[in-house]
Amino acid sequence: MAGGSGLKIAIFISGRGSNMEAILNAFGEPDSPVETVLVLSDQAEAMGLKSAQSRGITTIAITRDNYENRDAHEAAITEAVEQSGTELICLAGFMRLLSASFVARFADRIINIHPSLLPRHKGLDTHKRALEAGDEWHGCTVHLVNAEMDGGAVIAQARVPVLPDDDEESLAARVLEQEHKLYPAVVGMIAKGELVIKDGRVNPR
Ligand code: GRF
Repeated sequence: MAGGSGLKIAIFISGRGSNMEAILNAFGEPDSPVETVLVLSDQAEAMGLKSAQSRGITTIAITRDNYENRDAHEAAITEAVEQSGTELICLAGFMRLLSASFVARFADRIINIHPSLLPRHKGLDTHKRALEAGDEWHGCTVHLVNAEMDGGAVIAQARVPVLPDDDEESLAARVLEQEHKLYPAVVGMIAKGELVIKDGRVNPR
């Protein structure tokens, strides 16, 4: 994966890393439009770290406990990102809210995947909340990250039906399947210049 000329991305994870994996699988070829230069986790035990390492990708765990405060933690994250030459940060199950100053520093260069049809169900437990609300449709959203939680411009969405027998697990699985398609597709479109992000907005070329 090293030495490519694609868009340099960092993937931020906190756990399982299945969306990270989907991105790595989609752009594994040396001449691919996307080059993952860093996988960063705020959890030393994140499962995704091992799988990234086994592919020879640079990984780093920067855990909050090792820093005196949030600013110091984010300063360490910033340094790692800048040293890696990252052009786009892809949050993929990264469970830490980034400060307004971090987001401003990487303005228009951070995207996230969220398991709901934003602006519906921001935050946690989205599948449970979709079921409780009796939603007919649920899904996932790739969006720009701004200082407001799950609040940046929507880039793309995929929707799935909520079925009568669904529980949280079955619904989450149906959504996750779509996440694994949607996220690589969006990252690829940004890498190819088919989507342009500027001033907090996303437009086709
Ligand atoms: C995904 O559902 C993603 O939408 C949400 O957190 C979950 C992460 O899963 N932000 P994984 O770590 O990518 O497997």
